[in-house]
Amino acid sequence: PENVGILAIEIYFPPHYVDQNELEQFDEVSTGKYVIGLGQSKMGYCTDREDVNSLCLTVVQKLMEKHNIPYGSIGKLEVGTETLLDKSKSVKSVLMQLFQESENTDIEGVDTTNACYGGTAALFNCINWLESSACDGRYAMAVAADIAVYARGSARCTGGAGAVAMLLGPNAPIVFERGVRSTHIQHSYDFYKPNMESEYPIVDGKLTIECYLSALDKCYSKYKQKFSQVYPNSNEFSITDSDAFIFHTPYCKIVQKSLARLAVQDFINHCGNWPELEKFKNIDLEESYFNKDLEKAAMSATRELFEEKTKPSLTLAKNVGNMYTPSVYGGLVSYLLSNDIDKLPGKRLVLFSYGSGLASSMFSVKIDNSVSQQLKNLYKGIADVPARLEKRIKVSPSVFDKIMKLREETCHKAPYFPVGEKDCLLPGTFYLTSVDDMFRRKYARI
Ligand code: ACO
Repeated sequence: PENVGILAIEIYFPPHYVDQNELEQFDEVSTGKYVIGLGQSKMGYCTDREDVNSLCLTVVQKLMEKHNIPYGSIGKLEVGTETLLDKSKSVKSVLMQLFQESENTDIEGVDTTNACYGGTAALFNCINWLESSACDGRYAMAVAADIAVYARGSARCTGGAGAVAMLLGPNAPIVFERGVRSTHIQHSYDFYKPNMESEYPIVDGKLTIECYLSALDKCYSKYKQKFSQVYPNSNEFSITDSDAFIFHTPYCKIVQKSLARLAVQDFINHCGNWPELEKFKNIDLEESYFNKDLEKAAMSATRELFEEKTKPSLTLAKNVGNMYTPSVYGGLVSYLLSNDIDKLPGKRLVLFSYGSGLASSMFSVKIDNSVSQQLKNLYKGIADVPARLEKRIKVSPSVFDKIMKLREETCHKAPYFPVGEKDCLLPGTFYLTSVDDMFRRKYARI
């Protein structure tokens, strides 16, 4: 099959948010720490009415309805999440309820987990299936969803929640470039969830940053190598060869630093002309994760590039927070929406996905050379995102704190009857109605 890629994409985020300025005051940290220091504005969160199953049900059904896709036309469905409700039963199996009427049960794929990387693993599995002998001509769908919550303390402000579903197939308006996908996977205890009773991770903040930046360096270096193999007549790939760089976004500031690091690597490899970096030309990348002088110089050198190539992808991350697995795909949606549709054709976008523990990949997509009907459909499908962001309801940090407490006490409880309001959910949202004494969850749709 030619031009395997994204045919349609849908994103869901919860209807409530906390203002990061107000959270700074509530947490009694210095003014500006979350808003300027981390670059965050608002953080979305879920009440006890939503869980990872409901998020996935909502996003999948929305995508199917908006684009009139028959349930029988899906041959592969993969879910990536780190929000586990069950150690055995997959979210994918829960999603099969949506396919019941169509009687389509011939759908490969289950769930994949490794922190924020599971969505990318799900996506790659789908692409692999579409390009393989197992593909029977039907579509594939990759779903990524998480509720990102942290215990009280310095990490809590980097939470978020959301879900993304992508319809994948041949002759797509957004095509995955072949042969350039690069991966770096390594053992580390930077962020992990050994306590099955809790939604909270154990997190070593500083180590997560070091791991993220080191994975980025390694993926970029391998991406460059692979690019040279695929395009032997071109110069070494550099930051100027892509129209956008879209990153997994735990918080926006790390993304600005990440783009700057790509420039540093270009400079060290003599494929980037950055006079500002001259004094760092002999630097060892692996020793430089917390080199503030280098960071400052590189961020200042790449300020304009950041505005052009990366900042447009941060709208959802800034306003919803870290959605974990959907984060980088929320970046893609934000980037697409930040451009008029007629500015999109021909663009190359590089994506970087990172999941602690750790697994990471860098890959790229190219947008069709013309504004095709398919690109219009894809674009129309996400056009309601800005209005949905606007419509959300602000909740005070103290109410948010109480809801976190409630989730702590009840997230794995059975039997359980959620108490959160459901009228605030947008039409078409699934919500949890009950958990029975055998832990079986039931959902309804508003
Ligand atoms: N005004 C402006 N900036 C400020 C202020 C202020 N009043 N106060 C602090 N800052 C800056 C700091 O200088 C720092 O910026 P810098 O790193 O560019 O120097 C930034 O705000 C953060 O302050 P720190 O003191 O470093 O923050 P802290 O260590 O308390 O927590 C952290 C930050 C580690 C990101 C924490 O929120 C965390 O653990 N989050 C979860 C893990 C995470 O997201 N890791 C990222 C990759 S892994 C993943 O995706 C889960």
